[in-house]
Parts: sequence; structure tokens; C-alpha cells
Amino acid sequence: MLTLENLSRRFGGTVAVDGLSLRVDRGEIVTLLGPSGCGKTTTLRMIAGFEAPTEGRILLEGRDVTALTPQKRGMGMVFQSYALFPHLDVRQNVEFGLRSRGDRGADAAAAAERALNLVELAGYADRRVQALSGGQQQRVALARALAPEPPVLLLDEPLSNLDAALRERTRDELRTLLKRLGMTAVFVTHDQEEAFALSDRIGVLSRGRLQQAGTPEELYSSPSNAFVAGFLGRANFLPAKVLGMDGGELVCELPGGTRWRARPSGSADPGASADTTALVDSAAGTDVRLMLRPEGLRFGGGAADDEAAGAGLGGRVIDRRFAGAASFYRVQTAAGEVLVQGGPADAAAGEEVRILPTDGTSAAAFPPEDA
Ligand SMILES: Nc1ncnc2c1ncn2[C@@H]1O[C@H](COP(=O)(O)OP(=O)(O)OP(=O)(O)O)[C@@H](O)[C@H]1O
Ligand SMILES: [Mg+2]
Repeated sequence: MLTLENLSRRFGGTVAVDGLSLRVDRGEIVTLLGPSGCGKTTTLRMIAGFEAPTEGRILLEGRDVTALTPQKRGMGMVFQSYALFPHLDVRQNVEFGLRSRGDRGADAAAAAERALNLVELAGYADRRVQALSGGQQQRVALARALAPEPPVLLLDEPLSNLDAALRERTRDELRTLLKRLGMTAVFVTHDQEEAFALSDRIGVLSRGRLQQAGTPEELYSSPSNAFVAGFLGRANFLPAKVLGMDGGELVCELPGGTRWRARPSGSADPGASADTTALVDSAAGTDVRLMLRPEGLRFGGGAADDEAAGAGLGGRVIDRRFAGAASFYRVQTAAGEVLVQGGPADAAAGEEVRILPTDGTSAAAFPPEDA
């Protein structure tokens, strides 16, 4: 449906977007996720036609639209700032996109009303936009972008100005709405939780480069490099040395002598770039960094662990942080500080503990220099 082919955008010496290739299928919600300055807005502006790529092509339904104006591409865009017209009322704001496309009179009015109904603002058509809450303004911006029924909807951090509760509700409503309309959408955010909740697939960007694209589950369980692992959820990174291979997994040794099993990074992701799959062949003695998720760890010591007494990574609890459904324990070990997710009272500050992997989980191993 929408294909980005090797897109690059340079501003003088700054490479804002660097060789980005990504496909968005019809009806799919794809999110560009990454930290501030990684090139998300620039990518979206190139897709919309507000910014010309330095290199690369943009295809819509197989047609090269790279040289077309924003009007000719006809994509809907919701800007981070909403960019509503303060001197117009809600209806006039929503009709704006329709009129600029050439719709007149009754047609535009009917389409605007449909769009306002969709975002549940039908009763607000005559209000001035300043007389609306932030969340309502966000929905007006969304209605304005939706009204012309664009082939692709582009959304640049459209929820960033909402409070936590409204943000979560709007996010869920937005996904429901896009799915009901069967819309193809590219969503931009720096918020991992928002990306997980909204997206069919996510492309993680760092310094203008696409690090990995996949479903939220794929990115979380099989990150192809340490940046993706660290950006999506909590992660411990520990230095280790490879002792050998066993059953497709690396057997590694942590500082202090504890053995830990790890999947070579990228091994579950055939689409990963070549430089992230090199660990599969790593020889004994290779230095690696192990990535351990806090929720993939537990404290040993129960009856089931008797025979394995002494197993796991020993340490002392520094502190415990209550977080509702779980508690997080910071543990000082010979391999460094480790964050463990556990129950509310699994251990107390100062207590000696042994850390084990939860059943069925293994760490992921990354090259030590992979930042
Ligand atoms: N018009 C411009 N002229 C010069 N540099 C630019 C221009 N637009 C963007 N950049 C630079 O390109 C890089 C990417 O910017 P971009 O706005 O795409 O980032 P972003 O991922 O949207 O960040 P944020 O999350 O802060 O919105 C940044 O280093 C930025 O300073
Ligand atoms: Mg931006």
C-alpha cells in the first residue's frame, strides 16, 4: 500500500533520516518509535509531501508519488500541535480539508458531520475551538484529517498534550476507530507503551536509521540489537563471556562465575540486519552483553530450588519499589546491579538473595560494543 524505499533526508551536515525502507499494508497501523531527534517527524513530513527526500522513493499503491505535492497525495495528517484555526469554529475547521480539496456546500457539510460523529463531537460543531478541552481539540484535528477519507492517515504524536488518563482512553478509541474504518495509518510517538497499545507493527528508529520493524511481541521478545532491547521495556545489561553452545543457546559466564543461558541476538528475527546475527557463530571466550528482562527473573530459595541450592546469581537487595501489581527489587551482584520484578514481599532491603531465570526464559546476548 505505502512503501518507503531507502529514504534519506539531510539538512546540511545533519542526517535526519538515513536509508529508511518500510512497507505499510492496507488497513495496517504502523508506528515509528524512537527518541527525540531520531527522524520521526521528518519521515512523516516526507510521506505527506511537506519535505522532499534527499534520496529514495515513496510509493502509494505501487505508484511513485515522491515528486507530488501534498495536495496531490491527499494524505490526512494530524500534527502534534493540532494546528487548528483558532478563528474558525469546529465545523469550519473540519470542513477546511474538504474545501481545500474542492468539495463544496452540502457535500462538505455532510462529510464534516460524519467525521464529527465518528469522534463523538457532533454536538460541538458551532463551538469555537478555544472553548474546547485539549482532548476535544485533538479529536477535532483527527476529524479534520479523517473527513476527506484519505488513503493514508499520518499522526505525529497526536496524544502528547493529553493527561495520562485521557491519553490512554483516546489511544484506545483511536485504535478502535482506525480499525472500524479500515484505515491505513502511520503513527509517530516516542512512548513505547503507546506504540505497543496502538500498533500492528512498529519501526524503531535511532539516529535516522530503522533499527528493527516487527509486531510489538516480536520486538519485545526478539530485539535485534541492544538499542531496541533497551528502548522497549526495562532491561538489565550484564557483561559475560561465552563458554560454549548447548542446544542452540549460548552458555555464558557472568562475573563471579555464575552460568547463564542466552539466545544469540537476532536469531529469532530473519529480517534482522547482518551485523546483529554474528553472535550465532561466536566462539568460546567471546565477550558479550546479556540482556535480562526484570520480569524474566525471580528469586530462588523455595523448596523447588533446594537441589539447585547455590544456583543463580547471588546478591544483596538494595531497595524495593512498590509498583501496584508487582514490586521491583534492585539487587547488587558481582555482575553489577540487577533489577528483578517480583511479588510485593519477595525480599527485604539488605537481604541476601539468589536470582534465577523464570521458567522458560533465557537472556539475549548482544555484542559488547553494540550501543
Ligand atoms: N528543517 C530542518 N533543518 C535542519 N535540521 C533539521 C530540520 N528538521 C529536522 N532537523 C534535524 O533532523 C533531526 C530529526 O528531526 P525530527 O524532527 O525528524 O526528529 P523527531 O524524531 O521528530 O524528534 P521529536 O521526538 O523531538 O519530535 C534532528 O536532529 C533535527 O534537529
Ligand atoms: Mg517530531
